[in-house]
Amino acid sequence: MNRIFSGIQPTGNLHLGNYLGAIRNWVAMQRDYDCIFCIVDLHALTQPQVPAELLASTREVTAAYIAAGIDPERCIIFNQSAVPGHAELSWILGCHAPLGWLNRMTQFKEKAGKQRDNAVLGLFAYPVLMAADILLYKATHVPVGEDQKQHLELARDIAGAFNRHYGHDYFPLPEPQILGVAARVMSLRDGTRKMSKSDPSEQSRINLTDDADAIATKIRRAKTDPHPLPDTPEGLAGRPEAENLIGIYAALAGMNEADACRRFQGALFSDFKGALVDLAVAVLGPIGAEMRRLTSELGYIDAILRRGAERAGAIAGVHLDEVRGIVGLLRP
Ligand code: TRP
Repeated sequence: MNRIFSGIQPTGNLHLGNYLGAIRNWVAMQRDYDCIFCIVDLHALTQPQVPAELLASTREVTAAYIAAGIDPERCIIFNQSAVPGHAELSWILGCHAPLGWLNRMTQFKEKAGKQRDNAVLGLFAYPVLMAADILLYKATHVPVGEDQKQHLELARDIAGAFNRHYGHDYFPLPEPQILGVAARVMSLRDGTRKMSKSDPSEQSRINLTDDADAIATKIRRAKTDPHPLPDTPEGLAGRPEAENLIGIYAALAGMNEADACRRFQGALFSDFKGALVDLAVAVLGPIGAEMRRLTSELGYIDAILRRGAERAGAIAGVHLDEVRGIVGLLRP
């Protein structure tokens, strides 16, 4: 059976980009794959966190998975730190990951900034932990956004290095599933930048917990250009804000951009935005409401995570024991 592993860091608010770019696609995958969806709290520690917020965000991401339609019976949902095997395998894999490979990671360079010496070891080792997440379950497919492609290639390289070193085809090489165009949701304030939880402007993103008023205000204030909407996607070239809003409409409506353009050809942004508000509220409203309901029932979320960690831990335990055997660690 093919197995999917993917995860989201519990840092800050989840937004429309996380939903359209990741979670919504996962919902569709749970029918065809054996799925493990993680809340990667150890990864979150690679940047400074406020402990209480980290905890709240871990529960919020869990609530979002469930509210969006991921079935916790069918899939495994758990937080990374609850299965100690992630950290343990990360160590072993780190001993097979040359510094040269890690030095090439563009995300580290971006996040570390200019003061490279002040960057922490965890941030540098981040992609090794990500490889461990995937390989611990021998996942075969990993749905990720474009920005994680390099990390996934590294995971494949590390798996290959391990397999070659021990002369044992142990880890499958995980296939990236780079999610499509709709996966790139851009900022509402600047159509050339990704919608991001780290953007200081709240107006730049639609959070999954925003209520109808907040969604409407943000869409109405979204940056546009002075031209009416084109009749084909080609007409969106050089118009990043128009392209983003049409892309969001199409993704929320489950149609392609050509159909969305046909629907709104010649329309003014004011009219199009009205339709986009209605659609966004119709799709996101119930998800946000369900998230709020679930997060107010802490016992329920925590029980899902506990059960998920047991199920994940059972798989991880078997694999880790095999890995210990392969590398020559004395098994308890
Ligand atoms: N690095 C991923 C991100 O920021 C999150 C992540 C951690 C992940 N471990 C993973 C994604 C394993 C897929 C598989 O988006």
